[in-house]
Amino acid sequence: MAVVKASKSGATSVAVSCRGIGKSFITKDIEVTALRNVDLDIKTGEFMMLVGPSGCGKTTLISIIAGILKPSTGTCIVEGVDLNALTDTELLDFRAKKIGFIFQSFNLIPTLSLLENIAIPLIINGALQDEAMARAEVMLAKMGLASKADRSPTQLSGGEQQRVAIARALVHQPSLLICDEPTSALDHATGESILTLMKDISAEMKTTFVIVTHDARIFKYADRIAHMNDGAVTGIE
Ligand SMILES: Nc1ncnc2c1ncn2[C@@H]1O[C@H](COP(=O)(O)OP(=O)(O)OP(=O)(O)O)[C@@H](O)[C@H]1O
Ligand SMILES: [Mg+2]
Repeated sequence: MAVVKASKSGATSVAVSCRGIGKSFITKDIEVTALRNVDLDIKTGEFMMLVGPSGCGKTTLISIIAGILKPSTGTCIVEGVDLNALTDTELLDFRAKKIGFIFQSFNLIPTLSLLENIAIPLIINGALQDEAMARAEVMLAKMGLASKADRSPTQLSGGEQQRVAIARALVHQPSLLICDEPTSALDHATGESILTLMKDISAEMKTTFVIVTHDARIFKYADRIAHMNDGAVTGIE
């Protein structure tokens, strides 16, 4: 695996470093440029938010950072690893260990119970069934859903499904948690409590958070906010 050495000084380490990231999609002979020449650095333990209008490339960018999509141009180094240099198998393994991802559409598995859904990342990483289920139960309780552990995700409200997706993304304690609109289906109080929980986890475990959001109510939790427009990062505050 291609590991890029951390800085010699041991100064604040960088969790994500994107350089010259471009991404085009070709559908029916039409080329759509979703990202153009994006440079972005995110520090370890940072709470970074990504905002911008619909279609500006936010989901595309975080999918590249998560190793779900390959960029058309540029390099993305995550936790010291150049994602371009990994084989498909290495990339799968890297993602399973290091990255949690909360999708804009929650991607819960309807044929599994809530508890089983949350346990998946642990099972993938080789945990024993009993231990995985016990840890999933703790996460579900943190989300206030302990009493619904045996239900299918199809029997939940949108906000409840979102909380299960958050629990699943956090259960294997990833170094980098990437969230696409994590509070879009939550009421104000639940959204605030989820952000508080994420902040606590970030402080406690030095988890780096990258959060795409339209929700101005949660901007106050950000260490920095990167603004995107038309496939580019236009400013950072
Ligand atoms: N698989 C794909 N094939 C073709 N075009 C795509 C694909 N995925 C995204 N795009 C296009 O790339 C651009 C950026 O899409 P992206 O999903 O990254 O936007 P976004 O900022 O996340 O928007 P939203 O806030 O609505 O979720 C859009 O023009 C979109 O139509
Ligand atoms: Mg999106």
